Amino acid sequence: MITIPSFRRFSRLTAARLLVIATTALLAACSAQVEDTRPGQPVKTRQQAFKEMLRSFAPMGVMLRENRYDADKFAAMAATLMSKRDAPWAHFGPDTNYPPTKATPKVWSDAEHFEKERLAFIAATDKFKAAVDSRDKASIEVAYKAVYDSCQSCHKPFKER
Ligand code: HEC
Repeated sequence: MITIPSFRRFSRLTAARLLVIATTALLAACSAQVEDTRPGQPVKTRQQAFKEMLRSFAPMGVMLRENRYDADKFAAMAATLMSKRDAPWAHFGPDTNYPPTKATPKVWSDAEHFEKERLAFIAATDKFKAAVDSRDKASIEVAYKAVYDSCQSCHKPFKER
């Protein structure tokens, strides 16, 4: 027998679940991307390359924020970031501003500035690597923040939100 209170609980739960399902469907619809059908899939390839950078970069930030700095684990993630940092750039060819890109047209119209931001990012990651090698947490935090700022500094003009 379903008593009334438990039925209420049931329907509340159901409503909550339906909301989750609806939200998930909406998110899926928003991110349902146009397929990159061009030869070599330059847009998809560079997007995946950025996501891979983020996959090593983000957990290091979590480690620092939560005060769980572990020198060996951190060094391994930093090495992964270093091995991924050069991957996206070759895929910004001259004819590659098309859906599903999130790049702004400025990447191509102001290529000089884009290149400047890219070089600043490479320099920031060089410094970060040196800090990681020193295993000094305080300087790692400063250098991590500088890399983070270089991501943001490029995204602001060159990536759609
Ligand atoms: C020199 C410029 C530049 C730098 C530096 C840069 N990005 Fe990006 N990033 C871009 C551009 C442009 C795009 C959009 C690419 C596209 O959609 O074609 C992008 C896209 C991304 C995406 C989205 C991928 C997707 O499809 O959802 C992530 C995640 C990302 N970047 C993370 C980072 C992180 C983390 C850093 C720093 C560690 C970083 N980026 C540094 C320019 C940059």
